[in-house]
Amino acid sequence: MSAKGSATELQRAGQPLLVETFAEWREAARELLIHDVPPEMVTWGSPLTGGDLFSGAPPAVEPPHDSSGHPPPSSDLPRHRPTHGAPSIPRSLMDMLQSAACCRVPDRWAFLYRVIWRWQQGQHDVQSPADEDGARLNAMVKAVRREEHDMHAYIRFRERPAEAGPPRFVAWYEPQHDVLPQVAEHFISRMGKVSWMIATPEASVLWDGQTLHNTGPLVKNSEDLEDTGEALWLTYYRSVFNPARLNQTVMQQHIPSHRWKNLPEGKIVPHMISEAARGARKVGQYEAVGQRKGTTIPIAPEDAQPERQQPSKLDECRRCELWQFATQAVGGEGPKKAQIMFVGEQPGDQEDLAGQPFVGPAGKLLDQVCDKAGVDRDTIYVTNAVKHFKWEPRGKRRLHKTPAQKEIEACHYWLDKELDHVKPTVIVALGATALKSVMRTANVTLKNAIGRPVFHEGHWIVTTYHPSYVLRMPSEEAKREAFQTMVDSLKLAQDLLDRQPEEPPA
Ligand code: URA
Repeated sequence: MSAKGSATELQRAGQPLLVETFAEWREAARELLIHDVPPEMVTWGSPLTGGDLFSGAPPAVEPPHDSSGHPPPSSDLPRHRPTHGAPSIPRSLMDMLQSAACCRVPDRWAFLYRVIWRWQQGQHDVQSPADEDGARLNAMVKAVRREEHDMHAYIRFRERPAEAGPPRFVAWYEPQHDVLPQVAEHFISRMGKVSWMIATPEASVLWDGQTLHNTGPLVKNSEDLEDTGEALWLTYYRSVFNPARLNQTVMQQHIPSHRWKNLPEGKIVPHMISEAARGARKVGQYEAVGQRKGTTIPIAPEDAQPERQQPSKLDECRRCELWQFATQAVGGEGPKKAQIMFVGEQPGDQEDLAGQPFVGPAGKLLDQVCDKAGVDRDTIYVTNAVKHFKWEPRGKRRLHKTPAQKEIEACHYWLDKELDHVKPTVIVALGATALKSVMRTANVTLKNAIGRPVFHEGHWIVTTYHPSYVLRMPSEEAKREAFQTMVDSLKLAQDLLDRQPEEPPA
């Protein structure tokens, strides 16, 4: 306690209990519980302000309000029953209270005491999100954990000149909750013996390589920190920034804009984003495409159009929105005059990175189908109905999303060019998207098309399963059957090579 006297003496004298840390609050709360002092009899405050430590700050997690907009009076609490003896609080609740104590809400100490008091009264649902206080407690814990996570992720250390002496690295951050102590522990374990300082508006911590020193506010803003490391950091950031992989929506989800002001790279990111949009993306993609193996289909000069809607190179395609989220466009690969063309759906995660169709798990299965059917995959032209990877983020993974009909249609432009150049006798449509694309209609179903080849716009169309569908089948038996269907379809495609359109397939 920062003021003179024990918690109960102060409370009896009608004085506020001034606490600054969780340890102080815990000591006071324990004494009050032992003496059965209900929450409405206690006034809590901070030694700095006389009120709560952060009473000036807006509450990040609102206290519950009644219909008149006021917090419920303490007298709303059920009448208490005396609970003599030392309180026994479970570890899980204590951990939640300790986390919630870092949340900057004006009434945090009073609220925590109300929670612990209710628990001691036998109201154990006070810990549950279904309870009004429990919901607020859980929200406070969540807000604090989020802030810890953000501080780990967004803090940027700048190196100081060696002759300036320790600390070697300094960082400025404006946390929204009081998470500096736990964040300091994180960096002690990460940075070993090197010395550093983290400054915030409220306090600073200095690690000298062996001991952590807590100090008050030392600097007022990030400009006060020495900036020698900044140029180095910006150079590094520019060099790792890959415009071809820029996904602005995901980036903003990961680093909300209010964080940018204290990130050194925040100053250059808007510029780099606009550069990327203007053309740096193309440069990144040309490199990747240039390294690709296989045939590139040349586009005749008369086909090259200046307008965006008629891109002369696949990599410049903006005919739908998918280009924005993909690393690069993935064109087809294979012999220029292949007799069979495989058409898949769209590049997957691995294909998007490699710039080649069917090189991931689905491609491996396709290889096995070819082997089993006795067909050399290298004689087949392999492509996709849609040339850009469509995906959605799931944690750190990019999950495939089925392309929309309008995206399939936008990509006909490229498939037509491939068909014009390769002129395959047989197209093997792998799955429903490919089928819709090659038949130019959404009114077709895989079920009706498998095993029933049709002659359409100058090509035989053989429909079969998509290899990813086979890979996802739940049972080994179903997988075996579907695999065999794919093998049979490829054999059928081979048979059709010598057949005239009017000759019905065997
Ligand atoms: N799935 C497809 O449809 N195409 C690929 O290239 C890879 C996976």
